[in-house]
Amino acid sequence: MKLSNDDLCKLNEFWLYCKENQHFNVGYPESADFDYSVLEKFLKFSINNCGDWRIGNNYKLNTFEFEREVMAFFSKLFRISNKESWGYISNGGTEGNLFSCYLARELFPTGTIYYSEETHYSIAKIVKMLNIPARKISSLSSGEINYVHLIEQIQSDKQSNPIIFANIGTTMRGATDDIERIQHDLSVLGLDRENYYIHADAALSGMIMPFVDDPQPYSFEDGVDSISVSGHKMIGSPIPCGIILAKRCMVDQISADIDYISSRDQTVTGSRNGHNVLFMWAAIKSHSMADWRRKINQCFEMADYVIERLQQASIKAWRNKNSNTIVFPRPSDWVWRKHCLATSGDVAHIITMPHIDSKEQLDPVIEDIITDLRPNYGILNVCGQN
Ligand SMILES: Cc1ncc(COP(=O)(O)O)c(C=O)c1O
Repeated sequence: MKLSNDDLCKLNEFWLYCKENQHFNVGYPESADFDYSVLEKFLKFSINNCGDWRIGNNYKLNTFEFEREVMAFFSKLFRISNKESWGYISNGGTEGNLFSCYLARELFPTGTIYYSEETHYSIAKIVKMLNIPARKISSLSSGEINYVHLIEQIQSDKQSNPIIFANIGTTMRGATDDIERIQHDLSVLGLDRENYYIHADAALSGMIMPFVDDPQPYSFEDGVDSISVSGHKMIGSPIPCGIILAKRCMVDQISADIDYISSRDQTVTGSRNGHNVLFMWAAIKSHSMADWRRKINQCFEMADYVIERLQQASIKAWRNKNSNTIVFPRPSDWVWRKHCLATSGDVAHIITMPHIDSKEQLDPVIEDIITDLRPNYGILNVCGQN
């Protein structure tokens, strides 16, 4: 590949910029804690995973053998047998959500999707794309769905096939909807289990819940029909990707034989990224369960440090159970812009991902938040007036 000196300089400048900033992130759930250099040599190849890894396809350069292993790992993690589940490596959490809503709509063509106002913005786009009737339900202050409103709405809609879009870790507050309670409430309404669908949007927390001592219900054993996780969040990946897993008997109903690729088609896109499969494969092969647990515990320890510092300054900072998302009042623009913090309405958050492995990395943002929200804190504290 021939590039001019100017173009090479531009690339080099960008490389230096990336290197300098690779650990900048305290505001979004992307981990920078990975090293896939062992896979660099595969950038020479045009790998394409179109179709179904169970069957293979007519394109020699695919990573189906790796995808098979990755999906076996995630079926175990999300507590469903490999035989009873099917999924694939997608382009990210949004594609997993789209796939699941499409699946649910095909199974329940007259169903309505119910989701909380705390749900990721992808849902509004997905219901538009699929043209599915949808109801936005209010949220509790924790960020969980308002269970009473949810059931009242389903009842008043006389909806006999509700599609529940549940959050296992909301975007802003890291809240997990109680799918056990939702199923109980639906049964009180007289709905049998086979008459509704539950999708778990577990973009970040899908890689947290399996590794904590007391997880909220999140798995197939707990009642979900599909689950979607982002690969570039807790796992970490240089290219965004995701894991989608659903019940095989359901997926088989939407799949079609395609002679052009000599495979079956049931994925959102045709051509699929085969390199991302290698990233996910290398991540799971190079980590033991104890390694993941250690990573998650470190995230929680760092989150508790942020909360302790902010609370010492009388700033209302908190996190949901089993979440590394620290919620606090929205600071001034200069603070969230300087530290690339996400804000929504009157709150902001810090997310302590695995690349944050020392408290010193968090101190600059904590100090700016305190300076902004409690400008006299240092002075008052010295005078003993806090
Ligand atoms: C709860 C939730 N769902 C879905 C998504 C979308 O995931 P992705 O960016 O991988 O498409 C996000 C992203 O932040 C999220 O927080």
